[in-house]
Amino acid sequence: MTIKIGDFEFDRDRILESAPAAEPQRQLYFCARVREILKARFERDLSSGEALLRYGKEGLQALEEEGAYATFHIETYGCQMNAKDSEKLSGLLIQSGFRETETEDADFVLYNTCTVRENANQKVYGHLGYVHSLKKKHPSMLVGICGCMMQEPEEVEKIRKSYRFVDIIFGTHNIFKLAELLFDRLTTGRMEVDVWEGTSEIVEDLPAERKYSFKSGINIMFGCNNFCSYCIVPYVRGRERSREPEDILAEIRKLASEGVVEVMLLGQNVNSYGKTLSMPISFAKLLRRVEEIDGIERIRFMTSHPKDLSDELIQVMKDSKKICRHLHLPVQSGSTEILKKMNRRYTKEQYLALVDRIKTAIPDISLTTDIIVGFPGETEEDFQDTLDVVRKVRYDSAFTFIYSKRSGTPAAAMENQVPEEIVKDRFDRLLREVQQIAAEVCGRDVHTVQKVLVEEKNSHMDGYVTGRMSNNTLVHFPGDESLIGSIIDVYLEESKGFYYMGRQEV
Ligand code: 5AD
Ligand code: SF4
Repeated sequence: MTIKIGDFEFDRDRILESAPAAEPQRQLYFCARVREILKARFERDLSSGEALLRYGKEGLQALEEEGAYATFHIETYGCQMNAKDSEKLSGLLIQSGFRETETEDADFVLYNTCTVRENANQKVYGHLGYVHSLKKKHPSMLVGICGCMMQEPEEVEKIRKSYRFVDIIFGTHNIFKLAELLFDRLTTGRMEVDVWEGTSEIVEDLPAERKYSFKSGINIMFGCNNFCSYCIVPYVRGRERSREPEDILAEIRKLASEGVVEVMLLGQNVNSYGKTLSMPISFAKLLRRVEEIDGIERIRFMTSHPKDLSDELIQVMKDSKKICRHLHLPVQSGSTEILKKMNRRYTKEQYLALVDRIKTAIPDISLTTDIIVGFPGETEEDFQDTLDVVRKVRYDSAFTFIYSKRSGTPAAAMENQVPEEIVKDRFDRLLREVQQIAAEVCGRDVHTVQKVLVEEKNSHMDGYVTGRMSNNTLVHFPGDESLIGSIIDVYLEESKGFYYMGRQEV
């Protein structure tokens, strides 16, 4: 099939035949093909005057400066994993001839969705309504949806039927294929739906567009095998797969050579990293090896499952000069009974004993958590156990969630779903307790000097920058942009509950 755009002509079948089979070469090949198509479209629209209308003078200049021929925007929902996926998707799009814009008024809008709670889904449908109105004005615009929500067949069906203006649908397992899907959509005009049920494949060495120059997330594993009874993640992100340590270390070395000083190792359950590799290695041992990399000054990781947090890890954290003094340790509930129904595989007492071991070994650690209220069957007594854990652990902060029924999970079929008013009341009481304790705990370092990684210009106060302490607390202080990306000493003058005001110590 020969396709003509302006003066540019190509044979789709020949292009498909010549595509390399191996990844990531195949995707880089499709990036180049998409770039040619976008360039041809852009040149055609430039000579017809349409491009000027679409982008305006400034828009055209911005495209030229970046050597791009179209614009894209990604809306990202959910967790750090999705944020990381969006960086990879952006990398592929930039390679394909797009430049990023801040709003959804772009040539390609992609929604990277989350489905962990019902309200995450609703947000996406709200945006789809809006983007449809934009597309009516610009029919050549493309709309894509990917991420966790697309791993649910009912959601895909709903979009196919009721949101027919959507052009591309794919899931969590094949994000690396974005350029190939775009090529298909651009050359066939058909809605592209490509959702994989699962995968054992991990595609290395894709281009990625990092949001920050000085810090970066790194996937160390994908998927989850825990099947907590409320959670949809194992169904939409698939079985646990760890990356080879050498691949991870090579990526981090490369990042360090590019000026990255802080890395965040990402996985749904980092404490079980490496167990399924042909040469098993523990997460603690991986950390020791990351620590050896010159240039990396700070190491963070997310998320830890309490049942798998080993004494070896506590020891490595204690010995380390680089691992940050922060641990996110989701408790979910303080009631042993509820924890059992949640399939968390620890008791209230075991969790508290673990926290004790951590605090004894690393007294300056900051602990944060996730808590769900209103799990099926939760009684006032169970809820009191949750409050009790909150009071005993004294978290620096806690993400609190109202239980959301996810179809297909065991908890969705449980009896005794808790009435909404009761859940709402418990949620409010929990939030008050969490906030009061956090305000007391977070201020503990006031009037000391701390190392702070400067992250950005302060958006509210001119002449101020914002940085992050090892324990994840934010500090605002006078300074200019030249400090961004460096780790400096800051005196903490005043605690504001969840953050500090400070001044640079010279
Ligand atoms: N309802 C409410 N919160 C949930 N989480 C996961 N599944 C659900 C659900 N069905 C929360 C857990 C998890 C965090 C990422 O989201 O607390 O740690
Ligand atoms: Fe969900 Fe539990 Fe896996 Fe976390 S550990 S992603 S809560 S199943």
